[in-house]
Amino acid sequence: MKISKAVIGSIADEPIMQYTLENDHQVQVVCMSYAATWQGFMVPDQDDKLHNMILQFDDVNSYLTNPFHVGHTIGRVGGRIKNGCFTINNVKYHVSANEGPNLIHGGDHGFSSWNWQAATESSHDAVKVTFSRKITTQDDGFPGDIEAKISYILDNQDKVTIQFYGQSNADTLFNPMTHVYFNLSNDQETIMNHELQINSRQHVETDGQKLPTGRLLENHETAFDFSKPVTLQSALAQLQRESGKTQFDDAFKLADREQPAVVIRDRSDHRQISVYSDRNGVVMFTANPDVIGKSKEWEASHPYNGVAIEAQTLPDAIHHPGFGDIVLSANQAEVYTVQYHYEEIR
Ligand code: GLA
Repeated sequence: MKISKAVIGSIADEPIMQYTLENDHQVQVVCMSYAATWQGFMVPDQDDKLHNMILQFDDVNSYLTNPFHVGHTIGRVGGRIKNGCFTINNVKYHVSANEGPNLIHGGDHGFSSWNWQAATESSHDAVKVTFSRKITTQDDGFPGDIEAKISYILDNQDKVTIQFYGQSNADTLFNPMTHVYFNLSNDQETIMNHELQINSRQHVETDGQKLPTGRLLENHETAFDFSKPVTLQSALAQLQRESGKTQFDDAFKLADREQPAVVIRDRSDHRQISVYSDRNGVVMFTANPDVIGKSKEWEASHPYNGVAIEAQTLPDAIHHPGFGDIVLSANQAEVYTVQYHYEEIR
């Protein structure tokens, strides 16, 4: 088990640190202090060549400017909050909108816009880096100053555990998530041949602004039915036939917490990742975050190269009874956990 660190850039005179955790099978987790970002989940092939199973930018500056939030930790709240307004214990709050009238991904000064302090730990069967930061109400506009910690743990079972810790000095909202995009193939060209299984019977209906309406729709026999493994190619084709839409950007309600929330499989390169979460939802978003700065022709000729799997409580839960409780009460600590278990499949 090994941990190494390097300075990979700077922001506001602070170094941006990158940490590499490595287990006894050469599996690596790479993350950096800016936005507590997950940059690498590397596994060796038969010739010991390492392959990254998540999308990564080579240049640190792309992480500061790319709107796709590649690998970022998002908080205090993932997804959209209608009008940036919410009420906790009869007190109304408003956080400045950053997508039309609505707030998305914690706003412009959310978790993904800060450089975090880091500390490492190792034991005989796990290596860990914890990013921590106090984000005040002046920083991001949410009520309460929140002490937040994001830990990445890699163990010898090839499992990555991400823990989100939050404690605030006033009632606030807390529904953080990791905006990681997977592509398990050696060439990372497309995720079309990846199989996806989602442990879900219902997904969230949304309006024209991608805001939940509050209704849940049945997945059965629709493009949203991932109860058995489906390739993204066939699911996207069905989605287009049913609705004209060309990408998934949808929240699924998880059915059974004992089962993996999501399984992603690439049969051609023999890799599989099972995602486990202790919360009730997952957003699946097919995208090509590489597209920024490229021509329309390039965009048209390149298929989706990543699928984001964002484990969290269902979006805009504060406005929809039954979507889950994202209130973090004053002076009470909360920890959420998401795990990503890698297996080679033959
Ligand atoms: C989520 C949202 C998308 C988009 C991406 C990040 O998946 O639902 O609309 O904002 O994050 O780019």
